[in-house]
Amino acid sequence: MRPTCGLKGYYVIFRTFARTKGPHIMKRILIKNIKGLAGVYNESPKWVAGADMNRLPVIENAFLAIEGEHIAGYGPMSEWSGITDWNNLEVIDAEGRYVLPAWCDSHTHIVYAGNREQEFADRIRGMSYEEIAARGGGILHSAARLANTSEDELFEGAMRRLREVVRMGTGAIEIKSGYGLSLEAEMKMLRVIARLRESTPVHIKSTLLAAHAVPAAFKDNKEGYVDLVIREIIPAVAAENLAEYIDVFCETNYFSVSDTERILEAAAKFGMVPKIHVNQFTVLGGVEAAVQHGARSVDHLEFLEERDLNALEGSNTIATALPSCSFFLGIPYTPARTIIDRGLPLALATDYNPGSTPSGNIPFVISLACIKMKMTPEEAIHAATINGAYAMHLQNELGTITEGKKANLIMTHPMSSLAYIPYAFGSEHVDKVWVEGELQK
Ligand code: NIG
Ligand code: FE
Repeated sequence: MRPTCGLKGYYVIFRTFARTKGPHIMKRILIKNIKGLAGVYNESPKWVAGADMNRLPVIENAFLAIEGEHIAGYGPMSEWSGITDWNNLEVIDAEGRYVLPAWCDSHTHIVYAGNREQEFADRIRGMSYEEIAARGGGILHSAARLANTSEDELFEGAMRRLREVVRMGTGAIEIKSGYGLSLEAEMKMLRVIARLRESTPVHIKSTLLAAHAVPAAFKDNKEGYVDLVIREIIPAVAAENLAEYIDVFCETNYFSVSDTERILEAAAKFGMVPKIHVNQFTVLGGVEAAVQHGARSVDHLEFLEERDLNALEGSNTIATALPSCSFFLGIPYTPARTIIDRGLPLALATDYNPGSTPSGNIPFVISLACIKMKMTPEEAIHAATINGAYAMHLQNELGTITEGKKANLIMTHPMSSLAYIPYAFGSEHVDKVWVEGELQK
């Protein structure tokens, strides 16, 4: 008997596979009775912007079929005609639960050595993040620790953090260098990222952030360090194909707009696309410069002016907010409403790092986005899925429930509605996580 509707595609794909791959049978999973299948797009958008961010497509009482690494079909249970082929099929009953795309965390620094809880305590006593940096702490503190840490130890620590975030529902992640600040140590960090990529099905993108701070050895010679980044670090990283993106901390007391432009131009010659730290504490004009240089994303934006919004309009650069950084440092939140109400897309990411955000918890980021930035739960879910995927050039593979996309999925615990995720902040909402069809939790 021929199955109907949603499952038709599912069986067709399976038969095609069976024909082409001979006796090897691909693993299949059928999730049935899903209370709500969220983020369903028959055709994936490149991103979701403006008023559309509040319209999250959900199929109620749905099924979803996974075949190997991919989403093979989905639809309402009413269109499902039952199972005719039980071969190699696992059936999961998702009664009362939601299924949605796994989070796409487009901004992290999870390769690092040691922690900075002493600086955290200093901040509680009144010092600012900038004052701590000015006395040689902050990023330079992490760089000093990293210089004395082996590649294996760095790998272990980053892998622990990666496993931790996957259990919270993250299926794709961008990871930056930036605690090396020398040719050797930046390469060490990027090699760790490459090893992580080889060791897990999680989608990992790597970014060279050599211009994260001026290292102690160049204390009074920032130009000299920018020259080193341009002449030595970028070419060496490119030669080993260790970074897809280039990042700069474009900020007062770090790197100016002209430093940033020089670095982006040098990296462009090697095909590295900009994703930059900008407007965290001050507005220098870095957003305009980043857009002009074809940045994929501009991240932080706690301070945002009209000129920045004008630059983003009509561009292919996505604004990315990092609300758990604002929470931890006690700095303003990115004005999400202004960005979305202007018709622009917005992505959300964690910024997981030892100094400004020692947390990789996307559900908490979504809570903060709703509570502190007045985003709706639907907007926040779009921002942490398809828009995060766009920020990593993964929008064709991830971020929505679309046939043929990778089966990176979250199944929640039973809940009354999706708004329960941001509402019950701090609770554990994720029951199961699949990455490329492989169960992670
Ligand atoms: O995104 N702002 C620059 N970089 C990181 C913080 C790095 C650190 O303090 O170690 C951030 O917040
Ligand atoms: Fe960051």
